[in-house]
Amino acid sequence: MYPPGPKSRLPAGLLFQFRRDPMAFLTSLAAYGPIARFTIGPQAVYFLNDPALVREALVLQHRSFEKGGALKRAKVMLGEGLLTAEGDAHLAQRKLVQPAFHKARIAAFGEVMVGYAEAMSARWQPGQTLDVWSEMMHLTLAIVGKTLFDADVEGEAPEIEEAINALLAVFNLITLPFTELLLKIPTPTNLRARAAMARLDKLIYKLIEDRRGSDKGDLLGMLLGADDRQVRDEAMTLFLAGHETTANALTWAWYLLGQNPDAEAALHAELDAVLGDRAPTFEDMPRLVVTERILSEAMRLYPPGWTIGRRALVDVTIGEFVIPKGALVLMSQHVMHRRADFYPEPEKFDLARWTPEAKAERPQFSYFPFGGGPRGCVGEPFAWMEGVLVLATLARHWKLRLVPGHQVVPQPLVTLRPRHGVLVTAEPRSLAPHGGGG
Ligand code: HEM
Repeated sequence: MYPPGPKSRLPAGLLFQFRRDPMAFLTSLAAYGPIARFTIGPQAVYFLNDPALVREALVLQHRSFEKGGALKRAKVMLGEGLLTAEGDAHLAQRKLVQPAFHKARIAAFGEVMVGYAEAMSARWQPGQTLDVWSEMMHLTLAIVGKTLFDADVEGEAPEIEEAINALLAVFNLITLPFTELLLKIPTPTNLRARAAMARLDKLIYKLIEDRRGSDKGDLLGMLLGADDRQVRDEAMTLFLAGHETTANALTWAWYLLGQNPDAEAALHAELDAVLGDRAPTFEDMPRLVVTERILSEAMRLYPPGWTIGRRALVDVTIGEFVIPKGALVLMSQHVMHRRADFYPEPEKFDLARWTPEAKAERPQFSYFPFGGGPRGCVGEPFAWMEGVLVLATLARHWKLRLVPGHQVVPQPLVTLRPRHGVLVTAEPRSLAPHGGGG
Protein backbone atom coordinates (compact mmCIF):
# COMPACT_ATOMS: atom_id res chain seq x y z
CA MET A 1 0.00 0.00 0.00
CA TYR A 2 1.25 3.44 -0.90
CA PRO A 3 0.83 6.55 1.25
CA PRO A 4 -1.59 9.09 -0.22
CA GLY A 5 -0.34 11.92 -2.38
CA PRO A 6 -0.95 14.13 -5.38
CA LYS A 7 -1.17 12.69 -8.88
CA SER A 8 -0.66 14.24 -12.24
CA ARG A 9 -1.75 12.98 -15.64
CA LEU A 10 1.38 14.46 -17.22
CA PRO A 11 4.65 12.66 -16.40
CA ALA A 12 6.39 15.91 -15.56
CA GLY A 13 3.31 17.66 -14.18
CA LEU A 14 4.38 17.57 -10.54
CA LEU A 15 7.96 18.42 -11.40
CA PHE A 16 6.62 21.53 -13.06
CA GLN A 17 4.56 22.41 -9.99
CA PHE A 18 7.53 21.81 -7.71
CA ARG A 19 9.83 23.97 -9.75
CA ARG A 20 7.38 26.81 -10.11
CA ASP A 21 6.89 27.16 -6.34
CA PRO A 22 8.58 24.47 -4.22
CA MET A 23 7.43 25.94 -0.92
CA ALA A 24 3.77 26.00 -1.95
CA PHE A 25 4.03 22.51 -3.44
CA LEU A 26 5.59 21.00 -0.29
CA THR A 27 3.12 22.86 1.92
CA SER A 28 0.24 21.40 -0.08
CA LEU A 29 1.54 17.88 0.72
CA ALA A 30 0.87 18.41 4.42
CA ALA A 31 -2.83 17.81 3.68
CA TYR A 32 -2.05 14.10 3.03
CA GLY A 33 -0.87 13.45 6.59
CA PRO A 34 2.49 12.40 8.06
CA ILE A 35 3.73 10.76 4.85
CA ALA A 36 2.82 11.74 1.32
CA ARG A 37 4.03 10.03 -1.84
CA PHE A 38 4.23 11.29 -5.38
CA THR A 39 6.17 10.40 -8.48
CA ILE A 40 8.20 12.39 -10.92
CA GLY A 41 8.49 10.23 -14.00
CA PRO A 42 9.72 6.85 -12.66
CA GLN A 43 11.11 8.37 -9.43
CA ALA A 44 9.08 7.84 -6.25
CA VAL A 45 9.34 10.65 -3.69
CA TYR A 46 8.18 10.36 -0.07
CA PHE A 47 7.55 13.53 1.90
CA LEU A 48 7.82 13.21 5.70
CA ASN A 49 5.92 15.81 7.66
CA ASP A 50 5.99 14.47 11.19
CA PRO A 51 8.74 15.07 13.78
CA ALA A 52 8.93 11.39 14.81
CA LEU A 53 9.34 10.31 11.18
CA VAL A 54 12.00 12.93 10.52
CA ARG A 55 13.86 11.54 13.51
CA GLU A 56 13.55 8.04 12.06
CA ALA A 57 15.13 9.14 8.80
CA LEU A 58 17.86 11.43 10.17
CA VAL A 59 18.80 9.66 13.40
CA LEU A 60 17.42 6.20 14.12
CA GLN A 61 17.66 4.74 10.61
CA HIS A 62 20.20 7.04 9.06
CA ARG A 63 22.28 4.08 7.87
CA SER A 64 19.50 3.13 5.47
CA PHE A 65 19.90 6.41 3.60
CA GLU A 66 22.45 8.32 1.60
CA LYS A 67 22.29 11.98 0.77
CA GLY A 68 21.80 11.34 -2.92
CA GLY A 69 19.96 13.98 -4.88
CA ALA A 70 21.07 17.53 -5.20
CA LEU A 71 23.93 17.45 -2.73
CA LYS A 72 25.50 14.47 -4.39
CA ARG A 73 25.47 16.35 -7.63
CA ALA A 74 27.13 19.20 -5.77
CA LYS A 75 30.23 17.00 -5.79
CA VAL A 76 31.01 18.56 -9.13
CA MET A 77 31.88 21.60 -7.10
CA LEU A 78 32.56 20.51 -3.55
CA GLY A 79 34.44 17.32 -4.39
CA GLU A 80 34.57 14.87 -1.49
CA GLY A 81 34.12 17.38 1.31
CA LEU A 82 32.15 16.71 4.48
CA LEU A 83 28.85 17.87 3.02
CA THR A 84 28.91 15.52 0.06
CA ALA A 85 30.85 12.43 1.26
CA GLU A 86 28.92 9.25 2.04
CA GLY A 87 29.30 6.26 4.36
CA ASP A 88 32.72 5.48 5.82
CA ALA A 89 34.42 8.33 3.97
CA HIS A 90 31.97 10.70 5.59
CA LEU A 91 32.62 9.26 9.03
CA ALA A 92 36.38 9.64 8.64
CA GLN A 93 36.04 13.24 7.51
CA ARG A 94 33.60 14.12 10.23
CA LYS A 95 36.22 12.92 12.74
CA LEU A 96 38.78 15.17 11.12
CA VAL A 97 36.62 18.32 11.02
CA GLN A 98 34.43 18.02 14.11
CA PRO A 99 37.12 18.83 16.74
CA ALA A 100 37.56 22.25 15.13
CA PHE A 101 34.00 23.07 16.18
CA HIS A 102 34.20 22.07 19.82
CA LYS A 103 32.99 24.78 22.14
CA ALA A 104 36.34 25.43 23.78
CA ARG A 105 37.94 25.88 20.40
CA ILE A 106 35.37 28.18 18.88
CA ALA A 107 35.22 30.37 22.00
CA ALA A 108 38.35 32.03 20.71
CA PHE A 109 36.51 32.98 17.51
CA GLY A 110 34.16 35.30 19.39
CA GLU A 111 36.60 38.15 19.31
CA VAL A 112 37.04 37.86 15.54
CA MET A 113 33.29 37.80 15.00
CA VAL A 114 32.71 40.89 17.12
CA GLY A 115 35.75 42.63 15.65
CA TYR A 116 34.54 42.30 12.05
CA ALA A 117 31.01 43.33 13.06
CA GLU A 118 32.37 46.45 14.84
CA ALA A 119 34.39 47.33 11.75
CA MET A 120 31.29 47.02 9.58
CA SER A 121 29.30 49.11 12.02
CA ALA A 122 31.95 51.84 11.89
CA ARG A 123 31.58 52.01 8.09
CA TRP A 124 27.81 52.47 8.11
CA GLN A 125 26.62 56.07 7.97
CA PRO A 126 23.51 57.51 9.66
CA GLY A 127 20.68 57.58 7.11
CA GLN A 128 22.55 55.36 4.68
CA THR A 129 20.51 52.88 2.63
CA LEU A 130 22.02 49.40 2.75
CA ASP A 131 21.20 46.01 1.35
CA VAL A 132 21.49 44.20 4.64
CA TRP A 133 21.68 40.83 2.88
CA SER A 134 24.74 41.85 0.95
CA GLU A 135 26.25 43.34 4.13
CA MET A 136 25.66 40.12 6.07
CA MET A 137 27.14 38.07 3.21
CA HIS A 138 30.31 40.19 3.31
CA LEU A 139 30.52 39.93 7.06
CA THR A 140 30.05 36.17 7.37
CA LEU A 141 32.46 35.54 4.52
CA ALA A 142 35.11 37.64 6.24
CA ILE A 143 34.46 35.81 9.52
CA VAL A 144 34.67 32.34 8.02
CA GLY A 145 37.85 33.28 6.16
CA LYS A 146 39.53 34.62 9.28
CA THR A 147 38.37 32.05 11.83
CA LEU A 148 38.73 28.92 9.77
CA PHE A 149 41.60 29.82 7.48
CA ASP A 150 43.24 32.76 9.20
CA ALA A 151 43.00 34.69 5.94
CA ASP A 152 41.76 38.20 5.35
CA VAL A 153 39.38 37.61 2.46
CA GLU A 154 37.30 40.72 2.99
CA GLY A 155 38.99 42.55 0.14
CA GLU A 156 38.07 39.74 -2.21
CA ALA A 157 34.50 39.47 -0.96
CA PRO A 158 32.77 40.96 -4.03
CA GLU A 159 34.63 38.59 -6.34
CA ILE A 160 33.83 35.57 -4.18
CA GLU A 161 30.23 36.63 -3.91
CA GLU A 162 29.93 36.95 -7.65
CA ALA A 163 31.52 33.52 -8.10
CA ILE A 164 29.17 31.96 -5.58
CA ASN A 165 26.17 33.53 -7.28
CA ALA A 166 27.26 32.07 -10.60
CA LEU A 167 27.58 28.65 -8.96
CA LEU A 168 24.22 28.92 -7.25
CA ALA A 169 22.56 29.66 -10.56
CA VAL A 170 23.66 26.19 -11.60
CA PHE A 171 22.72 24.63 -8.27
CA ASN A 172 19.23 25.86 -8.90
CA LEU A 173 19.15 23.77 -12.05
CA ILE A 174 20.41 20.63 -10.40
CA THR A 175 18.34 20.54 -7.24
CA LEU A 176 16.02 18.05 -8.90
CA PRO A 177 16.41 14.60 -10.40
CA PHE A 178 17.07 14.16 -14.12
CA THR A 179 18.84 17.44 -14.56
CA GLU A 180 22.47 16.27 -14.57
CA LEU A 181 22.52 16.46 -18.33
CA LEU A 182 21.74 20.15 -18.18
CA LEU A 183 25.11 20.67 -16.55
CA LYS A 184 27.03 19.25 -19.47
CA ILE A 185 25.59 21.67 -22.00
CA PRO A 186 27.83 24.74 -22.42
CA THR A 187 25.11 27.31 -21.74
CA PRO A 188 26.23 30.77 -20.59
CA THR A 189 25.10 29.90 -17.06
CA ASN A 190 27.20 26.75 -17.03
CA LEU A 191 30.22 28.47 -18.52
CA ARG A 192 29.99 31.22 -15.93
CA ALA A 193 29.75 28.59 -13.22
CA ARG A 194 32.84 26.77 -14.47
CA ALA A 195 34.82 29.99 -14.58
CA ALA A 196 33.58 30.84 -11.09
CA MET A 197 34.68 27.47 -9.77
CA ALA A 198 38.13 27.98 -11.24
CA ARG A 199 38.38 31.36 -9.47
CA LEU A 200 37.32 29.92 -6.13
CA ASP A 201 39.74 27.04 -6.56
CA LYS A 202 42.55 29.47 -7.19
CA LEU A 203 41.74 31.40 -4.05
CA ILE A 204 41.55 28.28 -1.90
CA TYR A 205 44.74 26.73 -3.27
CA LYS A 206 46.47 30.02 -2.55
CA LEU A 207 45.24 29.96 1.04
CA ILE A 208 46.52 26.41 1.38
CA GLU A 209 49.88 27.26 -0.14
CA ASP A 210 50.32 30.33 2.08
CA ARG A 211 49.73 28.16 5.09
CA ARG A 212 51.78 25.03 4.47
CA GLY A 213 54.38 24.73 7.20
CA SER A 214 52.79 27.21 9.59
CA ASP A 215 50.12 25.59 11.74
CA LYS A 216 48.30 28.47 13.37
CA GLY A 217 45.81 26.29 15.20
CA ASP A 218 42.89 27.28 12.99
CA LEU A 219 40.81 24.83 11.05
CA LEU A 220 42.94 24.90 7.96
CA GLY A 221 45.94 24.13 10.15
CA MET A 222 44.17 21.06 11.47
CA LEU A 223 43.36 19.88 7.98
CA LEU A 224 46.81 20.35 6.55
CA GLY A 225 47.80 16.79 7.37
CA ALA A 226 45.60 15.71 4.47
CA ASP A 227 46.56 15.98 0.80
CA ASP A 228 45.93 19.19 -1.13
CA ARG A 229 42.89 17.92 -2.95
CA GLN A 230 41.24 16.81 0.30
CA VAL A 231 42.04 20.11 1.97
CA ARG A 232 40.66 21.96 -1.03
CA ASP A 233 37.38 19.99 -0.90
CA GLU A 234 36.98 20.49 2.83
CA ALA A 235 37.89 24.16 2.62
CA MET A 236 35.51 24.83 -0.28
CA THR A 237 32.75 23.04 1.65
CA LEU A 238 33.24 25.03 4.84
CA PHE A 239 33.61 28.28 2.93
CA LEU A 240 30.28 27.76 1.24
CA ALA A 241 28.34 25.92 3.97
CA GLY A 242 29.68 28.30 6.60
CA HIS A 243 28.80 31.70 5.25
CA GLU A 244 25.65 31.99 3.19
CA THR A 245 23.49 30.07 5.68
CA THR A 246 24.45 32.32 8.60
CA ALA A 247 24.16 35.44 6.45
CA ASN A 248 20.62 34.45 5.52
CA ALA A 249 19.67 33.74 9.13
CA LEU A 250 20.92 37.18 10.15
CA THR A 251 19.24 38.90 7.20
CA TRP A 252 15.85 37.37 8.00
CA ALA A 253 16.33 38.36 11.64
CA TRP A 254 16.87 42.01 10.61
CA TYR A 255 13.89 41.84 8.28
CA LEU A 256 11.64 40.53 11.06
CA LEU A 257 13.00 43.01 13.61
CA GLY A 258 12.14 45.78 11.16
CA GLN A 259 8.51 44.64 11.26
CA ASN A 260 8.29 43.92 14.99
CA PRO A 261 9.07 47.00 17.06
CA ASP A 262 8.25 45.24 20.36
CA ALA A 263 10.85 42.57 19.72
CA GLU A 264 13.33 45.23 18.68
CA ALA A 265 12.69 47.17 21.89
CA ALA A 266 13.19 43.99 23.95
CA LEU A 267 16.46 43.37 22.15
CA HIS A 268 17.73 46.88 22.85
CA ALA A 269 16.69 46.63 26.50
CA GLU A 270 18.66 43.39 26.81
CA LEU A 271 21.75 44.82 25.12
CA ASP A 272 21.69 47.89 27.36
CA ALA A 273 21.23 45.80 30.50
CA VAL A 274 23.78 43.09 29.72
CA LEU A 275 26.41 45.07 27.85
CA GLY A 276 25.96 48.70 28.79
CA ASP A 277 28.53 50.54 26.74
CA ARG A 278 30.82 47.67 25.80
CA ALA A 279 30.93 45.18 22.97
CA PRO A 280 29.71 41.61 23.57
CA THR A 281 32.03 38.68 24.22
CA PHE A 282 31.65 34.91 24.16
CA GLU A 283 31.09 34.97 27.95
CA ASP A 284 28.00 37.18 27.53
CA MET A 285 26.20 34.64 25.40
CA PRO A 286 24.21 32.88 28.15
CA ARG A 287 22.70 36.24 29.10
CA LEU A 288 21.82 37.32 25.56
CA VAL A 289 18.55 35.41 25.78
CA VAL A 290 16.36 37.73 23.70
CA THR A 291 19.03 37.96 21.03
CA GLU A 292 19.11 34.18 20.75
CA ARG A 293 15.30 33.91 20.68
CA ILE A 294 15.17 36.39 17.81
CA LEU A 295 17.46 34.14 15.81
CA SER A 296 15.47 31.04 16.78
CA GLU A 297 12.24 32.62 15.62
CA ALA A 298 13.84 33.99 12.44
CA MET A 299 15.12 30.51 11.56
CA ARG A 300 11.69 29.09 12.28
CA LEU A 301 9.96 31.39 9.81
CA TYR A 302 12.83 31.54 7.30
CA PRO A 303 15.00 28.45 7.76
CA PRO A 304 18.17 28.96 5.69
CA GLY A 305 18.13 25.21 4.99
CA TRP A 306 14.50 24.81 3.97
CA THR A 307 14.52 21.19 2.87
CA ILE A 308 16.57 18.02 3.42
CA GLY A 309 16.66 15.12 0.97
CA ARG A 310 17.81 11.51 1.28
CA ARG A 311 17.76 8.43 -0.93
CA ALA A 312 16.84 5.00 0.49
CA LEU A 313 19.72 2.53 0.14
CA VAL A 314 17.49 -0.40 1.11
CA ASP A 315 13.78 -0.96 1.71
CA VAL A 316 13.13 0.88 4.96
CA THR A 317 10.05 1.03 7.19
CA ILE A 318 9.13 4.53 8.26
CA GLY A 319 5.93 4.85 10.26
CA GLU A 320 3.33 2.61 8.67
CA PHE A 321 4.96 2.39 5.27
CA VAL A 322 7.84 0.70 3.55
CA ILE A 323 9.92 3.15 1.57
CA PRO A 324 11.47 1.15 -1.25
CA LYS A 325 15.15 1.14 -2.11
CA GLY A 326 15.95 3.96 -4.50
CA ALA A 327 13.08 6.21 -3.41
CA LEU A 328 13.77 9.81 -2.47
CA VAL A 329 12.75 11.09 0.93
CA LEU A 330 12.11 14.79 1.49
CA MET A 331 11.69 16.66 4.76
CA SER A 332 11.06 20.39 4.92
CA GLN A 333 11.93 22.74 7.73
CA HIS A 334 9.82 25.37 6.01
CA VAL A 335 6.69 23.20 6.19
CA MET A 336 7.32 21.75 9.67
CA HIS A 337 8.16 25.13 11.22
CA ARG A 338 4.83 26.54 10.09
CA ARG A 339 2.63 23.75 11.45
CA ALA A 340 -0.14 25.43 13.46
CA ASP A 341 -0.33 22.54 15.93
CA PHE A 342 3.24 23.25 17.07
CA TYR A 343 3.27 26.98 16.39
CA PRO A 344 -0.17 28.58 16.82
CA GLU A 345 -0.62 31.52 14.43
CA PRO A 346 2.44 30.26 12.55
CA GLU A 347 2.94 33.44 10.52
CA LYS A 348 3.30 35.52 13.66
CA PHE A 349 6.79 36.47 14.88
CA ASP A 350 6.54 35.56 18.56
CA LEU A 351 9.49 35.32 20.94
CA ALA A 352 7.31 33.67 23.60
CA ARG A 353 7.62 30.43 21.60
CA TRP A 354 11.22 30.16 22.84
CA THR A 355 10.80 30.17 26.61
CA PRO A 356 12.11 26.89 28.11
CA GLU A 357 8.52 25.90 28.99
CA ALA A 358 7.18 26.49 25.50
CA LYS A 359 10.12 24.59 23.97
CA ALA A 360 9.60 21.64 26.31
CA GLU A 361 6.04 21.23 25.02
CA ARG A 362 7.13 20.61 21.45
CA PRO A 363 8.56 17.31 20.19
CA GLN A 364 12.14 16.97 18.99
CA PHE A 365 12.35 17.70 15.26
CA SER A 366 9.37 20.04 15.26
CA TYR A 367 12.28 22.49 14.78
CA PHE A 368 15.34 21.39 12.84
CA PRO A 369 17.08 24.32 11.12
CA PHE A 370 20.38 22.44 11.46
CA GLY A 371 19.07 19.00 10.48
CA GLY A 372 20.09 16.29 12.91
CA GLY A 373 21.78 12.96 13.52
CA PRO A 374 25.25 12.06 12.27
CA ARG A 375 24.82 14.35 9.25
CA GLY A 376 23.48 17.30 11.19
CA CYS A 377 25.23 20.63 10.82
CA VAL A 378 28.79 20.38 12.12
CA GLY A 379 28.91 24.18 12.26
CA GLU A 380 25.85 24.62 14.49
CA PRO A 381 27.67 25.92 17.62
CA PHE A 382 29.73 28.22 15.40
CA ALA A 383 26.57 29.50 13.70
CA TRP A 384 24.74 30.26 16.97
CA MET A 385 27.73 32.07 18.32
CA GLU A 386 28.20 34.09 15.17
CA GLY A 387 24.49 34.89 14.90
CA VAL A 388 24.16 36.07 18.50
CA LEU A 389 27.42 38.06 18.63
CA VAL A 390 26.93 39.76 15.25
CA LEU A 391 23.31 40.68 15.94
CA ALA A 392 24.19 41.98 19.41
CA THR A 393 27.18 43.99 18.15
CA LEU A 394 25.32 45.68 15.31
CA ALA A 395 22.00 46.20 17.13
CA ARG A 396 23.84 47.96 19.93
CA HIS A 397 24.73 50.74 17.48
CA TRP A 398 21.97 50.64 14.88
CA LYS A 399 18.29 50.27 14.15
CA LEU A 400 17.69 49.08 10.63
CA ARG A 401 14.49 50.48 9.14
CA LEU A 402 12.97 48.61 6.19
CA VAL A 403 12.82 50.78 3.07
CA PRO A 404 9.10 51.21 2.30
CA GLY A 405 8.00 49.74 -1.02
CA HIS A 406 11.01 47.45 -1.41
CA GLN A 407 9.75 43.94 -2.16
CA VAL A 408 11.36 41.25 0.00
CA VAL A 409 10.85 37.93 -1.77
CA PRO A 410 12.07 34.64 -0.26
CA GLN A 411 13.87 32.63 -2.92
CA PRO A 412 14.35 28.94 -2.17
CA LEU A 413 17.62 28.08 -3.87
CA VAL A 414 20.09 25.81 -2.09
CA THR A 415 19.47 28.12 0.85
CA LEU A 416 16.53 30.40 1.47
CA ARG A 417 17.67 33.87 0.51
CA PRO A 418 15.92 37.14 -0.35
CA ARG A 419 15.69 37.43 -4.14
CA HIS A 420 16.17 41.19 -4.32
CA GLY A 421 18.04 41.60 -1.06
CA VAL A 422 16.61 43.49 1.92
CA LEU A 423 16.95 47.27 1.71
CA VAL A 424 17.16 49.13 5.00
CA THR A 425 18.03 52.57 6.26
CA ALA A 426 20.60 52.68 9.04
CA GLU A 427 19.47 54.75 12.00
CA PRO A 428 21.97 55.24 14.83
CA ARG A 429 20.84 54.38 18.33
CA SER A 430 21.29 57.36 20.58
CA LEU A 431 21.66 55.33 23.79
CA ALA A 432 24.87 53.58 22.88
CA PRO A 433 27.29 56.02 21.29
CA HIS A 434 29.54 54.48 18.70
CA GLY A 435 33.06 53.70 19.81
CA GLY A 436 32.03 53.39 23.44
CA GLY A 437 32.81 49.72 23.57
CA GLY A 438 35.73 48.27 25.43
C1 HEM B 1 22.46 29.47 10.45
C2 HEM B 1 23.46 28.82 9.91
C3 HEM B 1 23.43 27.39 9.39
C4 HEM B 1 22.36 26.59 9.05
C5 HEM B 1 20.88 26.94 9.09
C6 HEM B 1 22.91 25.32 8.63
C7 HEM B 1 22.14 24.23 8.23
C8 HEM B 1 22.65 22.97 7.93
C9 HEM B 1 21.85 21.80 7.66
C10 HEM B 1 20.31 21.76 7.63
C11 HEM B 1 22.68 20.76 7.43
C12 HEM B 1 22.30 19.31 7.15
C13 HEM B 1 21.97 19.03 5.71
C14 HEM B 1 21.44 17.61 5.51
O1 HEM B 1 21.26 16.85 6.48
O2 HEM B 1 21.20 17.25 4.36
C15 HEM B 1 24.03 21.28 7.53
C16 HEM B 1 25.18 20.55 7.34
C17 HEM B 1 26.45 21.09 7.36
N1 HEM B 1 26.80 22.38 7.73
FE1 HEM B 1 25.56 23.83 8.33
N2 HEM B 1 24.26 25.38 8.71
C18 HEM B 1 24.64 26.61 9.18
C19 HEM B 1 25.92 27.07 9.43
C20 HEM B 1 27.06 26.36 9.18
C21 HEM B 1 28.41 26.82 9.47
C22 HEM B 1 28.73 28.15 10.13
C23 HEM B 1 29.26 25.85 9.02
C24 HEM B 1 30.75 25.79 9.04
C25 HEM B 1 31.53 26.75 9.42
C26 HEM B 1 28.44 24.77 8.47
C27 HEM B 1 28.93 23.60 7.91
C28 HEM B 1 28.17 22.50 7.61
C29 HEM B 1 28.73 21.23 7.12
C30 HEM B 1 30.18 20.94 6.83
C31 HEM B 1 27.65 20.34 6.97
C32 HEM B 1 27.72 18.88 6.54
C33 HEM B 1 27.86 18.00 7.75
C34 HEM B 1 27.92 16.52 7.45
O3 HEM B 1 27.31 16.07 6.47
O4 HEM B 1 28.56 15.80 8.23
N3 HEM B 1 27.12 25.12 8.60
N4 HEM B 1 23.98 22.63 7.86
